[in-house]
Amino acid sequence: MSSKKVRKRSAERGARAPKGATMRIEGKEYEFPVVVGTEGEKAIDISSLRASTGYITLDEGLSNTGSCESAITFLDGQRGELRYRGIPIEELAAHSTFTETAYLVMYGELPKPRELEIFSARLNASSLIHEDMRHFFMGLPGHAHPMAILTTVVASLSAFYPVSDELCKDDEDRIVANLISQIRTLAACSYKMSIGEPVVYPSYKRKFVENFLYMMFASPVRDYQLDPVIIRAIDLFLMLHADHEQNCSTATVRMAGSSHANVYAVVSAGISALWGRLHGGANQAVIEMLERIQASGISVAAYVERLKANKERLMGFGHRVYKTYDPRAKILREHCHNLLKKPGMSAPAFDIALELEQIALRDEYFLSRNLYPNVDFYSGLILKAAGFPVNMFTVLFAIGRMPGWLAQWREMRHADKNKIVRPRQIYKGPPLRHFVPKDAR
Ligand code: CMC
Repeated sequence: MSSKKVRKRSAERGARAPKGATMRIEGKEYEFPVVVGTEGEKAIDISSLRASTGYITLDEGLSNTGSCESAITFLDGQRGELRYRGIPIEELAAHSTFTETAYLVMYGELPKPRELEIFSARLNASSLIHEDMRHFFMGLPGHAHPMAILTTVVASLSAFYPVSDELCKDDEDRIVANLISQIRTLAACSYKMSIGEPVVYPSYKRKFVENFLYMMFASPVRDYQLDPVIIRAIDLFLMLHADHEQNCSTATVRMAGSSHANVYAVVSAGISALWGRLHGGANQAVIEMLERIQASGISVAAYVERLKANKERLMGFGHRVYKTYDPRAKILREHCHNLLKKPGMSAPAFDIALELEQIALRDEYFLSRNLYPNVDFYSGLILKAAGFPVNMFTVLFAIGRMPGWLAQWREMRHADKNKIVRPRQIYKGPPLRHFVPKDAR
């Protein structure tokens, strides 16, 4: 659809929205303003609700709560649409790179060639971590999960690169370059430490993804041949993860950032939230599930039946917002096909994934609950084909999501209503009672 038509459709939807919403509580009517987004999404602004009525809203899981206004990412869960700064993810996947997309997400516009050059040079110049950080890694057990290491070392950047409370634009740009670039170096270092190999330093002559693959897989005794197909696959993976509006880890970043905490600690909180199996940790869980099915020899259909009977979750399926196929999963599935066609690449797990998808998409259980493949269903297969160990998958998600976390953190800092996030609750504990001395209990 042309951008003119899209704008017209949005304006029409906006025009149809009422100006206000009336709520009747205990016989009295209250009027609340309605806020309409660019694409016609409507919200009732209840910021004066408690002051005027004494009531709060209760929305566990926050499925119906808009926590902010944002200009970064648009997502239509019914249509399966995702756009960064207005640009459809499919167009970025076809024409852009992770570095260019990171700039777009961060600064709001596609960079001009010179701007991209400066941004890339800045990422390159920030890629080396403080040498003393190596001691940090040495203090951590070699068998630690790379996500445990990542949260620790990212938070520790606040000790190596202290930031003041008042940040000017230059400070922000420096933090952005540091975090987008260094998370990749830190990820590769933690992998090298975990397998007992010497750390490989970043090289200024390599581009973002090449540099990462080189730090991950080169060694003093083994040359690493960079494969353009793998470079493209990882670039695409990172690009598709760059932002996803108010998901669990991003909401965590905004929440922690709202107290004006140090940005490195704030991002580390986001990484911790990402780790869970219901969020970014799902990419590891999907591969483990596919490999379990493969090893057990059980048929895919029997596995699905058992899963439903035990009320277990099909990992990589379902989404809080998408009630149709996740557009990122569509792109990754296509890419899996291309990647696995390459000589030497084969993934029996891919065939299992395709069969699982086919069965689930015909099954009443999944259909009635609108459960479709999400981004994590196919992403692990790509990472596996690229040679990444399974426990690094969520780390790669974190590298990809960094521009989004930082853009959301920056947007929040500059918002007019920059309030500390402090939800309320409905207390359901014991009513007032009094302390009983120890010998009278
Ligand atoms: N397999 C089987 N049943 C499911 C699944 C699944 N993957 N997801 C949801 N359901 C069922 C759930 O049991 C419930 O059924 P019932 O109504 O009978 O109780 C119904 O669908 C609604 O589930 P919900 O938990 O209320 O849905 P939600 O919006 O709170 O959860 C989700 C979203 C992503 C946490 C969930 O779909 C899930 O656990 N999926 C598997 C984990 C996964 O793949 N996570 C990655 C998400 S995408 C990447 C990211 O951004 O993190």
